[in-house]
Amino acid sequence: MQPNFEAIIVSKLAEKQKQGLLRSLSLPSGVDFSNNDYLGLAGHFEIAKTAADAYVKLGAGSKGSRLLGGNNKIFEETEKWFANWKGTEAALIFNCGYSANLGIISAFCGIKTHLFCDRLSHASILDGYAMSNGKLHRFKHNNPADLENALQKAEADSFKLIAVEAVYSMDGDVAPLKEYADLAEKYGAMLYVDEAHSDGVLGPGGKGLVAQLGLENRIHLSLTTFGKAYGTMGACVFGSKLLIDYLQNHARSFIYSTAISPGAVVAMQKAVEVATRESFRRESVLKMSANFRQKITEAGYDCLQSETQIVPIVLGTVEKTKKCHAFLLENGFYAACIRPPTVPNGTARLRINITAAHKETDIESLAETLILYIHSL
Ligand SMILES: Cc1ncc(COP(=O)(O)O)c(C=O)c1O
Repeated sequence: MQPNFEAIIVSKLAEKQKQGLLRSLSLPSGVDFSNNDYLGLAGHFEIAKTAADAYVKLGAGSKGSRLLGGNNKIFEETEKWFANWKGTEAALIFNCGYSANLGIISAFCGIKTHLFCDRLSHASILDGYAMSNGKLHRFKHNNPADLENALQKAEADSFKLIAVEAVYSMDGDVAPLKEYADLAEKYGAMLYVDEAHSDGVLGPGGKGLVAQLGLENRIHLSLTTFGKAYGTMGACVFGSKLLIDYLQNHARSFIYSTAISPGAVVAMQKAVEVATRESFRRESVLKMSANFRQKITEAGYDCLQSETQIVPIVLGTVEKTKKCHAFLLENGFYAACIRPPTVPNGTARLRINITAAHKETDIESLAETLILYIHSL
């Protein structure tokens, strides 16, 4: 007899359970070090009030995709404001960063495109590639020499797209963007930088790593997501008018999806205004992260090359990681337990996200608890 579809699904889930990789939803308890609210803006009164007023005034929904009934002058004005803020010719709002990456990567990856991306690329970049017909080259993490090897092999007249992140979400390290910009120029490639974890935190006024390195004129396209440091939701892509026009015509996630609510767009802009003005948030999150990292690396933990508010603690096996996670939980701290396939096999880790909403005393207690744990092994 044929197994029914439920039996197949049950066995797939059982396999995950056996590998210790079954995911389930849980509510953070204790002091939460798992969220991405890096600047502590998700609960900011001024942003929430502005958003609430905008929802009341403009309605809860956008009524359609931007190309079919969902456009609204709020979108257009905010995109102009965003482009001006980032110093680009144009900008395009997407519903979230995941959908932006699906749209961008699949739009530019036609049959003769070579896509070059880091081995640790976010799932949204790879999923965008899965919707495309291009050829994928995954170079070693943060390794321009390996990228150049791959670039040399692609036909000289082909369309080449280099897609990288400014800060890697599971490692907290920073990409060598200047070297990538040099290579993009040398090989005539388009360079796209996803600033999901750098915008708001790094750079002058929180404008991201591209601005911090003075590379604004050497990057062709970049992405800001608002669900992380800006504490709201949505995303915006920045680039020349030509590239933005192209995306409006080719990014399927933009064309075939109802636009985000105008109220959410108003919240995005307010969050940028607040984040720019309240620079103490950026300063405190980077300072607290550096202190925390120093304490725990001195105690013997491996934090990889983290230089940011994302501090990985690599424990290796899923079992060891779960044990440390449980110990922290017993002591009042909630840390994200990151396992394969999100990270490579053998590098399971806890990911500690330091945010401006944390108190210094919470971070000190977390470091002390981790030190206690390593000494108890
Ligand atoms: C590098 C990167 N890009 C894009 C996204 C997706 O952004 P959003 O959460 O707005 O969909 C994430 C989210 O985890 C990310 O880490």
